[in-house]
Order: sequence, then C-alpha cells, then structure tokens
Amino acid sequence: MSVIHTSSTDPQPLAALDQWDDFVEGRYKEGKSKEEFRVYDAEALPGVAEFYRLNHGMKSIWEAADFLNTLIDDSDPDTDFSQTEHLLQTSEAIRRDGHPRWMVLTGFLHDLGKVLCLYGEPQWGVVGDTFPVGCAWSTDIVFPEYFANNPDRNVPEYQTKYGIYEPNCGLDKVHMSFGHDGYIAEVMKPYMPIEALYMLRFHSFYPWHRHGAYQHLTNEQDRAMLEWVLKFNQYDLYSKGHARPDIKALKPYYDELFAEFLPKKVAW
Ligand SMILES: [Fe+2]
Ligand SMILES: [Fe+2]
Repeated sequence: MSVIHTSSTDPQPLAALDQWDDFVEGRYKEGKSKEEFRVYDAEALPGVAEFYRLNHGMKSIWEAADFLNTLIDDSDPDTDFSQTEHLLQTSEAIRRDGHPRWMVLTGFLHDLGKVLCLYGEPQWGVVGDTFPVGCAWSTDIVFPEYFANNPDRNVPEYQTKYGIYEPNCGLDKVHMSFGHDGYIAEVMKPYMPIEALYMLRFHSFYPWHRHGAYQHLTNEQDRAMLEWVLKFNQYDLYSKGHARPDIKALKPYYDELFAEFLPKKVAW
C-alpha cells in the first residue's frame, strides 16, 4: 500500500519512526558539548531537520494547500484531481449556489487537515469515516466487520450503547476517532463560525450525518447543526469530477476571502 507520495526533490520529513529513536539517541549521547549538539541536529539527519521545519511551520492557506498537493489520497482513488483542485471544486460549487462567504471558505479549508499525512501520520489515521470511541460501534460505520480486530472490543464498558458517555451529552463531549476533520476544526476554531466548525469537524462522520446513527449522544445544538453538515456534505461528495478549476483566475477572489477571516499565516 502506498502511504505518502512526495516529490523526490523535497526532503522527506521522517521515513520511519526508528529514525526518530536514532536521532534522540545520538543527540543525547553522554559527554557531548552544546556545540556538538547543534552540529548534530542540523547535519545528522536531514529528515529530522525537515520534520521540525514542518512541525513549527506557520503557513498561509495557499502554502498549506500547495504542501497538501504532494499527497495522494489512498482513500479516494477515483479522482485524478489534485487536493487543491478538490478544495476549489468544493468551494466553487458552494459559491455558485449563493451560500455565505464563510461557507465558501469552509469548502476550501475542509480537507487541509490531511497535511497530517505529511507530518508522518499514516493515512489510515487521517482519512476515512470517523466515529465515537468509548461506546458501541454502529453497524453504519464503513466496514464494521473490521472492528472484530479492534482492541477496544475487549473493554466491556465500551461495548454498551452509551459506553463512557451520558445520554445526549452532546458531540462536544464525545471523543471522536482521530482524523483530518478534528485537526482542521481545531486549527480553525478561533476564526470560523460554529456552523463552519461543525462542517469541518464532522464531515467524515458519515454514520451520524448520513445514516442517523448515534443520535442518543447528540444534544439540541448538534441537531440544529446537522442541517449545515448535510448541506456541506453534498458539495464535498458531488463536486468531484467537475471541470478543472482555473487556480490562477480564482486566486484574487480567494486571497480576499482568506484575508477576510484568517490571519496571513496560521499555525499548523
Ligand atoms: Fe475530508
Ligand atoms: Fe473532501
């Protein structure tokens, strides 16, 4: 299975986790002077240096989108569009239908959390359906049969309908499986309205917004926000395969849109 595809000219962040272990071991070897530490950090493992450059990166939205373009999404093989093109197809379809500007922006932002794959997270932990952890799995989650191998299966408390939660506690209090959705929602929390944050955080929570599962964990706010998540979802799903967006021509509009809601650089 392919995991990360980056262009060969770019330094690779971290090829494997044991590279990290080697680095820590070398860095803190006994008897090393401060000076030696610094030299070691820069030269010993370019992958580690690159990892930290990315790790501390402040990026504009365009830079984040460009960076994301180096990724090929294993969960979405039926598109030969770049990630930026998918984002623009989504946001442009929203714009064409006359939705508010914050929603157009949400269309552009929604998959930027996939940069996690380029920070060394495996794709299986970043893309795909999301679902609550700590309670019984819904059979509406994609490929539910694979939960047979999930170690949470052995925790009896997690096998009940409510698990670790109170009835209708609200999705705010629910721990979702990790993914690009939760990540981008956190990044955008200071800047976007609550409707947008629901679209970002829950766009891969298909069991809930498509199949109506987990309603016993939702509260009034979640039920009110569901219509926005659904409104958004059709653009994520059905804008694919449309004409290739003309990025250059669209750039001025998006420059203005980004500037309206977001600082020049965002911490990723
Ligand atoms: Fe997504
Ligand atoms: Fe998407």
